[in-house]
Amino acid sequence: MATVVESLPEIQESRVELLHLLIVDDERAVRDGCREVAQSLGMSTFIAENIDGAWRILDAQPIDVVLLDLPPGGGLEVLQEMKRRRPEAEVIVMTGQATVPAAVQAMKTGAYDYVPKPFNLEELRLLLQRVARHLKLTTENRVLREKVRSRLGFGNIVGHAPEMEKLYRMIAKVARSTHPVLIIGESGTGKELVARSIHCSGPVRDKPFIPVDCGSLVPTLIESELFGYVRGAFTGAVRSKEGLLAVADGGTVFLDEIAELPVDLQSKLLRALQEKEIRPVGSTRRTPINVRILAASNRNLEQAVEDGKFRKDLYFRLNVVSLKLPPLRDRKQDIPLLVSHFLEKLATAGGKMRTVSDEALKLMLAYDWPGNVRELENALERASALSSGPVIQVADLPTAVQNSQAQPGLTVAPGKIIPMAELEKQAILNTIAQLNGDKLMAARLLGIGKTTLYRKLKEYAAQDEVAR
Ligand SMILES: Nc1ncnc2c1ncn2[C@@H]1O[C@H](COP(=O)(O)OP(=O)(O)OP(=O)(O)O)[C@@H](O)[C@H]1O
Ligand SMILES: [Mg+2]
Repeated sequence: MATVVESLPEIQESRVELLHLLIVDDERAVRDGCREVAQSLGMSTFIAENIDGAWRILDAQPIDVVLLDLPPGGGLEVLQEMKRRRPEAEVIVMTGQATVPAAVQAMKTGAYDYVPKPFNLEELRLLLQRVARHLKLTTENRVLREKVRSRLGFGNIVGHAPEMEKLYRMIAKVARSTHPVLIIGESGTGKELVARSIHCSGPVRDKPFIPVDCGSLVPTLIESELFGYVRGAFTGAVRSKEGLLAVADGGTVFLDEIAELPVDLQSKLLRALQEKEIRPVGSTRRTPINVRILAASNRNLEQAVEDGKFRKDLYFRLNVVSLKLPPLRDRKQDIPLLVSHFLEKLATAGGKMRTVSDEALKLMLAYDWPGNVRELENALERASALSSGPVIQVADLPTAVQNSQAQPGLTVAPGKIIPMAELEKQAILNTIAQLNGDKLMAARLLGIGKTTLYRKLKEYAAQDEVAR
């Protein structure tokens, strides 16, 4: 008991305003008692007399802990539904039905703990202190996990090509600031992944990361999503809604496909960023915002500016730093790494661990992947579903990949005889060039040892010297 009391000041300091407790009980005396204890611990409290009231509060408030009165002989479905809606909230069950099986059932259904009624307030106080410590640890663990993750490269971004290494250094740098970043890259190159990494590697990692796809929403919807609206602003606006730029509150809003933002909204966004406040649709009042903007586009925004489709001033505002993501065809040496990464991911998600045959990998290296990493990921998912054994074969690959030329055919003029040694040299140099210089992979695909390959390269270099 002593340890609990000793650690109390620490809990109060760090979690006081952070812990939100919902009390659900139909008896007024119980509600009042619980509220008094919780408030004495510095928690903020919400009260519901019945389950309907509880759902309303749970949907609108950041509840961390629920004290839930279970009616005798039932209520486990309520507990189940509560854990489904808010898995991260801890539920403490209170009930008059003080039987061991009922307690076990409640815990099995996901309750954090169980207090038989009637309980004294000191008992409740100790229990709330315990759950507060538990939640504090959970948060700390999450932050720690993120830190470890960011040290291991950037979350789930895979790749060792020089362009990728450069990208990691840039991400590390921009993650520390709060300037806007513009992420440019073809479809499927990992723009959203990079945006999430910037958010998760920075100081606001515990605040929200909110993606908004400007390409798939109709303009009026983008406006009401970003800026919010007040009741009656338009037909159907039966209640006010806060804009995402305000909801992010210290976090990040990721504006995907920013080039698709209509020009009038571009002006409104620019004003919001300059003045750090927004005006919800239909309102005359302004709301302050504190948000980091990351934007992405698969189009050349400079061209859009030149064509008068994108405001130059907004472009400059967003483009304080820009990150260019290389298309996959320019970093083919990362394909084997990406293949293992996705196969492991598929295995973790419940599938079998598979590998790819050398023949299939050759074709994957020859293919240009216009849909970039996403296309590669989809191809592997499909191939895993089709493949009957542990090794993915050429026939499991999409037709487009199957049809790619594993080796560019040497163009041999009719009648011209090419010596074997020359053919071999062309094969080696072509393969290395296709793999962006990855000699180890070239040796593997050509079916020769790496020492042989290095020896041959030395010979070619010597021949070239002599020829010069
Ligand atoms: N370097 C990478 N390492 C691992 N996975 C990646 C990498 N790049 C992309 N992916 C994966 O490929 C898929 C597509 O990535 P993402 O959605 O970030 O691309 P995008 O550039 O936003 O594409 P689009 O323009 O089509 O929206 C995701 O499943 C992502 O996890
Ligand atoms: Mg995207």
